[in-house]
Amino acid sequence: MDHFSYKEDILHAEEVSIQEIAKEVGTPFYIYSTATLRRHFDLFESALSGVDHLICYAVKAASNQAILKTLAKFGAGMDVVSGGEYKRARDAGVDGGRIVFSGVGKTGAEMKLALHEGVRQFNVESEEELLVLSGIAHDMNRVAPISIRVNPDVDAKTHEKIATGKAENKFGIPISRAREVYARAASLPGIQVVGIDLHIGSQLTQLLPFEKAYTKIADLTDVLRSDGHEIKRLDLGGGLGIPYGLEDGSPPTPKEYGEMVKRVLGHLNCEIEIEPGRLLVGNAGLLVSEVIYVKKGHDREFLILDAAMNDLLRPALYEAYHDIVPVKKSSSNQENAIYDVVGPVCETGDTFAKSRAMKKCSPGDLVAFRSAGAYGAAMASEYNTRPLVPEVLTNNHEYSVIRERPALEEIIARDKIPFWLK
Ligand code: LLP
Repeated sequence: MDHFSYKEDILHAEEVSIQEIAKEVGTPFYIYSTATLRRHFDLFESALSGVDHLICYAVKAASNQAILKTLAKFGAGMDVVSGGEYKRARDAGVDGGRIVFSGVGKTGAEMKLALHEGVRQFNVESEEELLVLSGIAHDMNRVAPISIRVNPDVDAKTHEKIATGKAENKFGIPISRAREVYARAASLPGIQVVGIDLHIGSQLTQLLPFEKAYTKIADLTDVLRSDGHEIKRLDLGGGLGIPYGLEDGSPPTPKEYGEMVKRVLGHLNCEIEIEPGRLLVGNAGLLVSEVIYVKKGHDREFLILDAAMNDLLRPALYEAYHDIVPVKKSSSNQENAIYDVVGPVCETGDTFAKSRAMKKCSPGDLVAFRSAGAYGAAMASEYNTRPLVPEVLTNNHEYSVIRERPALEEIIARDKIPFWLK
């Protein structure tokens, strides 16, 4: 459930008319709802009530500092995967002790930054990384708290590009080698083992893959404890899916997920960390765009929008489905039509939807892509020298532009002409 709804036929974000915002900000733009962020955060909070836990928001899903600050205010920690994300979280006021540092290719500079400013734990993904971290922490006279990301070899039953928990994926260490690698970690200077980490994939629409993986982790916890390791935290990753459209059915709720977590892992008395991204911000954001042309093609009609694949990459990259709805319902758009919905970028992949049944549109109409809050703005680029689109956050009757559209001059001025061309 979200807080985007029609009031007198105009789509509103909480109490703010999206049409009014479009007039001020121009299209395309992303808009997020604070009340929806709150609602989704609270769902996880209550799902894990009764167990010691920390919800570490996966910053990669939507990394604007206003979103980070909002979630941090609700009580979230953060899960980051780069020095950039770490700095964003810190600049948004998040204490280093509430940040977990994940990622398969952390650099020495990133490790130093986090060791210097504070980190809850590094989720280490390989022995190679473990050795580098040990060396750096030792040299800095620090101790790096670590969990090791274990690859449980479970099929997450999601799109292959976002499945991470199979043996052939680049993530984590094989679960069969966990004892050996933990023993090595315990012997290294500058390293303190605090737990186990895993993340099997994103947009999971069934509980069973999670349960299979967590069962393996429960067994591993017993084994590692009997080997003498202090396993006090389990980082379960993110991955719970959201309903984008009919084909997703109804993914499990945070409540069902939480019940399963308690059933499978509760007896271990570990602190539970989770790293949700999509479930917190996905349905809390829309991409709003204007129709430029309705073009008659050879055998179809194209709805050409001012948003493109560079603004919302998910359909081009994963054939992802996003609902597209009118911002204004009116008598003129009650007629149905079928469109290929496309952007202005010069490649055929710049297609948001094929043969989509929608209300008839005319140039100048505004449409909104639903469930675009996660991996929308965060994955945008300036391809075709299209400026990154602005982001807006609503809070009840208020709204604020949380990222401005850069001027073309600003983008172009980043290029530097070498002296021999001057
Ligand atoms: N933790 C780790 C270590 C991750 O790699 C991810 C996502 C998450 C947590 C958060 O997963 P979530 O709860 O959002 O499913 N761009 C793709 C999704 C990529 C997910 C990458 N890792 C998309 O648009 O579907």
